[in-house]
Amino acid sequence: MFTIGVLASGKGSNLQAIINQIESGFLKVKIGVVLSDNPQSYALEIARSHGISAIFIEPGKYKTFLQPEQEVKYVKCLEEHNVELVCLAGFMRVIKKNFFNSYSGRIINIHPSLLPSFRGLEAWKQALQYGVKFTGCTVHFVDEGIDTGPIILQAVVPVLDNDTPETLHQRIQEKEHIIYPIAIKLIAEGKVKIEGRRVIIDED
Ligand code: GAR
Repeated sequence: MFTIGVLASGKGSNLQAIINQIESGFLKVKIGVVLSDNPQSYALEIARSHGISAIFIEPGKYKTFLQPEQEVKYVKCLEEHNVELVCLAGFMRVIKKNFFNSYSGRIINIHPSLLPSFRGLEAWKQALQYGVKFTGCTVHFVDEGIDTGPIILQAVVPVLDNDTPETLHQRIQEKEHIIYPIAIKLIAEGKVKIEGRRVIIDED
C-alpha cells in the first residue's frame, strides 16, 4: 500500500484527521511512521494510540531548521519505513537539502493561509492584522523556499468582524482537516501532476 510519513511538532490535529480518513476507508494509504522534533508533541501520542511507529528525533542546535546530521537521520528513518510521500503536518522547521536529495517532489505541507499571502509563522494572525476579509488554507508541494512550492488544493475561510486569532485559526483548521486528506488521496492515486508552477489534478 502507498506509504506516507507524517512530520509534526505540535498538537497533531491534522495527523488525527488523516488517521480518521484512513479508518473511514476514504484514504487508502498506510502511515509508515510519525516523526517529531518535539518529544512533547501530542502527535506522537496520537500515533502510538493507533499502533503507528512514532519517533522523536533530536533536531539539533538550530531553532528554525534541523541540524544537517540530524536531518540525515530523519530521512534515513523515513526510508527505513518505506515512506513514499512525506506529509508535513504542523512541522515547524524549514526542510533543507538532505530531504530534497531523497524526496524531491514528494514532500507536501499544509499551511494556514491562502498562499502566496501570509507565508511563515502564525499566518492566521498575519491575516487578521492585515485586515483581509477572506483567508484559508493551502496544501502545497515543498520546494527550497518557505511556503513557496506549487499549490495542490486551497480552501477559503471568511474572516469575521469578531474573530480573535484563536477563533479564526480554529475555523481554518476545520478546513485543513478536510483538504489535507483529499490531497494525500489524490497523490496516492497518481492523479496529481506538476507542470511548472501549476498542479494539474486528473479528476477522470
Ligand atoms: C496547522 O494550522 C498548520 O497549518 C500549521 O500548524 C498547525 C498545526 O496544527 N502549520 C504551519 O503554520 C506551517 N508553517 P496541528 O498540530 O493541530 O495539525
